[in-house]
Amino acid sequence: MTDFPVSITNRIDAATGGMRMRRLRQAAWSRRLVRENTLSTADLIWPIFVREGGGEPQPVAAMPGVSRLSVEGCVEAAKRARDLDIPLVALFPYTDPSLRDETGSEALNPGNLVCRAARAMKKAVPEVGIMCDVALDPYTSHGHDGVMRGERILNDESVELLCQQAVVQAEAGCDVIGPSDMMDGRVACIRHALDDAGCRDALIMAYSAKYASAFYGPFREAVGSGGMLKGDKRTYQMDYGNTDEAVREAAQDLAEGADMIMVKPGLPYLDVLARLAREFGVPTFAYQTSGEYSMIMAAVQNGWLDGDKAMLETLTAYKRAGASGILTYFSPKVAEMMRG
Ligand code: PBG
Repeated sequence: MTDFPVSITNRIDAATGGMRMRRLRQAAWSRRLVRENTLSTADLIWPIFVREGGGEPQPVAAMPGVSRLSVEGCVEAAKRARDLDIPLVALFPYTDPSLRDETGSEALNPGNLVCRAARAMKKAVPEVGIMCDVALDPYTSHGHDGVMRGERILNDESVELLCQQAVVQAEAGCDVIGPSDMMDGRVACIRHALDDAGCRDALIMAYSAKYASAFYGPFREAVGSGGMLKGDKRTYQMDYGNTDEAVREAAQDLAEGADMIMVKPGLPYLDVLARLAREFGVPTFAYQTSGEYSMIMAAVQNGWLDGDKAMLETLTAYKRAGASGILTYFSPKVAEMMRG
């Protein structure tokens, strides 16, 4: 009957009251039946890098499987997102170094790369949402998200430019404006600027709890801002020792008119995500950053991790923590997998 002495069984039954937790785990059907959190394609936001010129996708060395696409390639990606049921695509430009300057003026050019890509994607695939970052770092010669005076990143002067950047992007067809700059008061000012420009329907997903993190490294390579970055971003991005501050940031952004909030990076900040999701009860998103993606892919390339399993496990962890959705470079892969 059993390999164990009866006394062990008696002891276990006495300790558990006869409740055997493994009973529900014994079959695939029962595991599926009682699963509490499930990932779906509706949870995915797919970040895409766009570059000038035509031709083949240009691989990003530190992000295996991720490439910079031409505008035409972005249109193809939008079609792929539609076919895979991915609701939203986030666009990030690799700006030619010759177009970068002290104030990031190319960000305000309605004909810039991101605007051209957004227009082309919206025209070809109107049913897929487009999100654009509001921050100057892909456009500045110093790699910071705002304008500088000496060593300082100026808040109010930066917000003025960010408002114009947001309007230019919304007018190009961007549905979701994502302020990722962490300047104070930017959400309120951007909301007003959008409304004044007649873009009342543009949504704002605020990067509310955005930490000064080591996990953005590969992204900065992808958009070409890494080598240029002078110093770090700790005077505007959050200190990773803090959680109460994340609550205050989110409360502030919501009071200023954010429709959705975000926590970034993702996996090392699940506690923050869980707290914000519970505390505010608003659509709360997580960004599985480039560094998180690269860590998994590096281990996969060494044969140390099963990539598909690590991908599904990490993405489900965000759901468990309360995320409404996840920005992840795995989006097309996981959507394909879920389609079967
Ligand atoms: C721009 C921005 C960054 C990321 C998204 N928007 C980099 C940064 O703040 O330095 C990082 C995304 C990623 O690492 O995947 N402000």
